[in-house]
Amino acid sequence: MTCTSRWPVWDSVVARQLVTAIAERHAGPVLMCLQAIQGHFGYVPEGATPIVADVCNVSRADVHGVLTFYADLRTSPPPPVPVRLCAAEACQAVGARALKGQWQATCELDAELAALTGVDEPIFCLGNCALGPAAVVDGELMGRVTVERLRAAVLARAEQDSEQSV
Ligand code: FES
Repeated sequence: MTCTSRWPVWDSVVARQLVTAIAERHAGPVLMCLQAIQGHFGYVPEGATPIVADVCNVSRADVHGVLTFYADLRTSPPPPVPVRLCAAEACQAVGARALKGQWQATCELDAELAALTGVDEPIFCLGNCALGPAAVVDGELMGRVTVERLRAAVLARAEQDSEQSV
């Protein structure tokens, strides 16, 4: 199964247009600008920091501080189908640690699955505690997660992406 990236390649001109439009409408919009860049390119490349600093009239250190504070902002391209397993207490109480171990073992045995999902980046509480263990597969919330359901969701999403890219 092939799964190409749905994100456009980094373009500083487009990034500047995105953040300028935000800065014209909002005060102190550093976080919004970083979110907009990630929303468009899938992540916040290194080249975004000076653009956001310039447009928002703050220092690069200020932008870097915001960028590194929020765990949801990523500085490297996402895998085709990112998987994040909840690592907070309520999910731990219903098997999240075991699920994580089983998921890692499954990915170690399945190179295609590992390439699709990359390394799990834990997340702390998705507000889905009653249906733990919880996970997010490419932005879609899942409850009562098992390895089998996770695998099926990842492959379905990858298939969807492949069909859309044809
Ligand atoms: S602890 Fe996992 S969703 Fe709340």
